Amino acid sequence: MTLMNSLSNKQSLETILDYHQQTKHHFQRYASGPDGLDWQHQPEAFRTFKGCTELLLPLLAQPTKALYNELYQPEKINPQALSVKTIAQFLELSLGLSAWKQYGKNRWALRCNPSSGNLHPTESYIIIENCQGISAGVHHYVSRDHVLEKRCQFRHKPSLLPDNGFLIGLSSIHWREAWKYGERAFRYCQLDAGHAIASIRYAAATLGWQVQVLTSASDAQIETILGINRDPDFNSAEREHSDVMLLITPHHKAPANGLFSLKKVTETANHGQWYGQANTLSSHHIDDWPIIAEATVASVKPETDVASWQAPVLPKLNRTADQSSAQAASTLIKQRRSAQEFDISHFTNQNPDAKKTANGLLFTDKMLYRLLDLTLPRQGIAPMDSISWKPAIHLLLFVHHIEGIESGLYLFLRNDEIKSTFQTCLKQDYEWLKPKNCPAHLPLFRLISGDAREAVKTLSCHQEIARDGVISFGLLAEYESNINHKPWVYRQLFWEAGMLGQILYLEAESVGFRGTGIGCYFDDGVHELIGLAEDDHTFQSLYHFTIGKALADNRLQTLPPYAHLGRSNLVKE
Ligand SMILES: Cc1cc2nc3c(=O)[nH]c(=O)nc-3n(C[C@H](O)[C@H](O)[C@H](O)COP(=O)(O)O)c2cc1C
Repeated sequence: MTLMNSLSNKQSLETILDYHQQTKHHFQRYASGPDGLDWQHQPEAFRTFKGCTELLLPLLAQPTKALYNELYQPEKINPQALSVKTIAQFLELSLGLSAWKQYGKNRWALRCNPSSGNLHPTESYIIIENCQGISAGVHHYVSRDHVLEKRCQFRHKPSLLPDNGFLIGLSSIHWREAWKYGERAFRYCQLDAGHAIASIRYAAATLGWQVQVLTSASDAQIETILGINRDPDFNSAEREHSDVMLLITPHHKAPANGLFSLKKVTETANHGQWYGQANTLSSHHIDDWPIIAEATVASVKPETDVASWQAPVLPKLNRTADQSSAQAASTLIKQRRSAQEFDISHFTNQNPDAKKTANGLLFTDKMLYRLLDLTLPRQGIAPMDSISWKPAIHLLLFVHHIEGIESGLYLFLRNDEIKSTFQTCLKQDYEWLKPKNCPAHLPLFRLISGDAREAVKTLSCHQEIARDGVISFGLLAEYESNINHKPWVYRQLFWEAGMLGQILYLEAESVGFRGTGIGCYFDDGVHELIGLAEDDHTFQSLYHFTIGKALADNRLQTLPPYAHLGRSNLVKE
């Protein structure tokens, strides 16, 4: 089943615009979803293919030598050669399990990449040809078992991939999210794919590797290479939809993305020997939410030219002299979690200017500036160097308690050419003041000072975590201009937002705080707050995020990620 988009550009655009409008949450009405959760048919958390040869991957026996801070200083990490061991590390730290949680009899896995509702719609495949111990072909990664399932054996020893690299392809099982979230699920799948892209980029950086999203690839090519268009291999099992193909190269040098086409890989996969039968995740679907299938078809990507936007040269990233420099990258990646509740003991209404958390920890303006700096694309710096389109997502900041910065509403532009458009569209009485100590190259502007805590809690579907942290974010896309002629870019906008979310997660973790992605917010409520008219689609909010001092939930037990395997094949770096 290859998805064809036989709609005209105009029809596709209308479908996407309608999908987006229809899946907005409103104060009076949430986007359509199930009335209650059909627990009996909860989707199985892991996809497997029965009948494939399995390759058990070794697990890291100790934290990586690479420190978290060094991920942003690539010259500090020597590129490692491709081997079973390094591919295993790459997968463990990108999409592998990070822990199991247990409450009573219920047990669920957490992964290095986060996911809306922990439903994990994203599946991954590596396509490899020159790695001893892994046969040339397409392999599906099962994070639960840290195993590669051989889906396709290439029939001859091909020479397909540039720079001694390999590919990793991502797909989404929309049903996983739709089971819980109904029509809005398509958005969440795209955000999750963005988080996965950034997780992949960070894991590659621990090995000194580079990552490029192959921006010319069509969804039809990706489907063929991943084998997700093979009807007999799925039968009644839930289908996967193509997301993205990434080229990983074991060098510091950026891969020659522009010169590389997937045509030969597609042909080789097409003629390969395929194995395996996909498992069914739910024996019954009460409702499949047809609007998701419509949006999927309307946003199918054709083969295109390579996106070739060049990041401007920016000042080198500031290193921090704080605790983050000392932490192993793998430790930080595995300890990343979503906060469920924040410590507000010092942040009461009686003390609105409080900056410290109960244990004296401060989130400072310097931490904020570094975090914003990390979101700007720089050549060779993870994770934003892996996409080569012009930044289209900007950050609206609800600053609650940050040392050195007044509370209020701020806007950070990731591409400052857009400033005048924002100035035209947003409220006319905004200040547009740059904070005193903000580095010159960071286009951060205070729009209005004040206490935005209750407002952002309300806007975030009344979730207290948006109010109780030190800062909350709204991720605003340059929307209409990007999708007008290319409706499939709708998906890429969410990927970019998800990637930014992953930066926020890791950076918050590195300074002793914790983040949480927020997919539930009242879309037009956010727009109204900043003065965007309801029928103005210049900008749209695609994601929210919050950072604070997390409180642990002591009712939950935490178990190590792979103890259930009882395997002893640990490897030292
Ligand atoms: C796209 C996305 C949207 C999310 N939305 C919310 C949300 O609205 N509220 C919330 O409490 N958590 C939200 N989360 C956090 C997830 O529930 C969390 O990632 C998941 O339970 C897995 O836990 P972990 O992040 O600790 O691995 C979101 C996460 C993602 C990636």
